[in-house]
Amino acid sequence: MSKACIIGWPVAHSRSPIIHGYWLRTYAISGSYGRQPVRPGEVGQFLASMPALGLAGCNVTLPHKEAAFAAAERKLPGARAVGAANTLWYEDGVLACDNTDGAGFMSHLAASAPGFKARDCGVASILGAGGAARAIVHAFLSAGVHEVRLFNRTRARADELAAFFGPRVQAYDWSRAMACSVDVGILVNATTLGMQGGGGRLEFDVAALNASCVVADLVYVPLLTPLLAAAKARGLTTVDGLGMLLHQAVPGFEKWFGVRPQVTRELRDLLVADLGRS
Ligand SMILES: NC(=O)c1ccc[n+]([C@@H]2O[C@H](COP(=O)([O-])OP(=O)(O)OC[C@H]3O[C@@H](n4cnc5c(N)ncnc54)[C@H](OP(=O)(O)O)[C@@H]3O)[C@@H](O)[C@H]2O)c1
Repeated sequence: MSKACIIGWPVAHSRSPIIHGYWLRTYAISGSYGRQPVRPGEVGQFLASMPALGLAGCNVTLPHKEAAFAAAERKLPGARAVGAANTLWYEDGVLACDNTDGAGFMSHLAASAPGFKARDCGVASILGAGGAARAIVHAFLSAGVHEVRLFNRTRARADELAAFFGPRVQAYDWSRAMACSVDVGILVNATTLGMQGGGGRLEFDVAALNASCVVADLVYVPLLTPLLAAAKARGLTTVDGLGMLLHQAVPGFEKWFGVRPQVTRELRDLLVADLGRS
């Protein structure tokens, strides 16, 4: 029986067990996926003990993503680009890691906005310069987006990201987000603004965007964020944050349990029902 888990501190809020539990039932796999609280400073020790605990691997949530990346011996390009890992597994006795957020975002984007073609979109605007923004920048550049514009409250963080990724990524002042997004093919909110329970309000008027712009929000509580609601009302194609959460889980399940699972309507409905209870 294969076992996996998610580690974090705290970890009780994680919805990953719902996702992996659904797939274990759907594919009739005799395995388990649980939540494992791990204290800051104890990540390396926990990861080293996984084989002895019978764990094939784990997901990693805050605040352990950088520590997990540092602990892994084999780092896939998605993790290297972000400097943080969310999925770990043992491969020939070696601890390997990846960061599947960017690929998860792109899979959901393809499903939600089939007309969107990264190579044809020209410019992408990203609000935010944290770990999630970094994963999206890497995914966009890998998919062929010509130019990425970054807007972040703390300008220095956007500058650092732009310097890391090179000339196709440009950093701007936060206050210029609207003015510098009139010609973009996609706008992504990768900040915590709009999040239920104190995320703060995102001041962005979607009237500034052109009619073919796709609007994505990584925030998924609430599912319909004020940004997405305004974009929908303007008739723009929208991409919510929940699909990214579902799709980023696919590679880990495949590594640990040997089946590449599908993100289905039924799974999404299960998560939506759970979000409704929060
Ligand atoms: N859907 C998914 O699967 C998924 C996956 C990962 C993350 N996310 C979501 O993506 C968002 C970012 O996550 P993260 O891991 O990148 O977090 P993070 O590293 O802590 O970054 C947070 C970002 O939000 C910005 N921010 C926070 N408060 C702000 C405010 N009042 N005004 C303007 N900007 C503000 C920060 O700007 P400063 O640099 O100025 O602080 C930073 O750019 C969160 O909402 C998270 O839930 C979703």
